[in-house]
Amino acid sequence: MIKEAEFVISNTKVNDCPAPNLPEYAFIGRSNVGKSSLINMLANNKKLAKTSGTPGKTQLINHFIIDKSWYLVDLPGYGYAKVSKTERARWETFIRQYFLERENLMCAFVLLDCRHAPQKVDLDFMNWLGTKGIPFVMTFTKMDKLSSGQLSKNIQAYKKEMLKHWDTLPQIVITSAENGFGKKEILDLVTQTNPLFKA
Ligand code: GTP
Ligand code: MG
Repeated sequence: MIKEAEFVISNTKVNDCPAPNLPEYAFIGRSNVGKSSLINMLANNKKLAKTSGTPGKTQLINHFIIDKSWYLVDLPGYGYAKVSKTERARWETFIRQYFLERENLMCAFVLLDCRHAPQKVDLDFMNWLGTKGIPFVMTFTKMDKLSSGQLSKNIQAYKKEMLKHWDTLPQIVITSAENGFGKKEILDLVTQTNPLFKA
């Protein structure tokens, strides 16, 4: 369980992020998939990261420090059609730069809405992380919205699609910001990974 979560800084430049002296975990995925909500669920604080029913809410790289020992990062969504092309290109540039340059990043949580069939933009992004050697967890969100039958069917479809490009599947976590499902699994993963950080 997280005892203390504090906002540190928002910015668009990797160079202005906090000094990379603690292990870090980033939450990424399409706009509205539930990145900020999941962060709030993990931290037991609905007001920590700003959420909204309207896609495009988070527009900056937001750092939160957790229990004074690791960073959690809320990022803008990719693939959101309703901001201007120029604005979208600008976000995508700094998001990719963040992943390429952030040396203390231990792993990315790529959020996928469990209600949807595999989406090209998500598959492309995960393949890109793979080519760059950045570890990630496929993190299904909003599981409270589906029956367990439909949920396993949709996840199966994702696995099948991933196996077209990958020999082995990345780790998979199922979550709900609504009912707390998956919290322990994510926090256990962080606890197990933190000691691997080399300052
Ligand atoms: P951007 O910052 O715009 O990229 O979006 P985001 O990925 O941070 O999504 P956000 O957390 O703001 O949530 C988007 C909407 O989905 C909000 O209306 C949330 O209440 C809703 N939502 C998020 N997670 C869940 C969930 O697990 N279950 C349900 N039922 N709704 C959720
Ligand atoms: Mg957000």
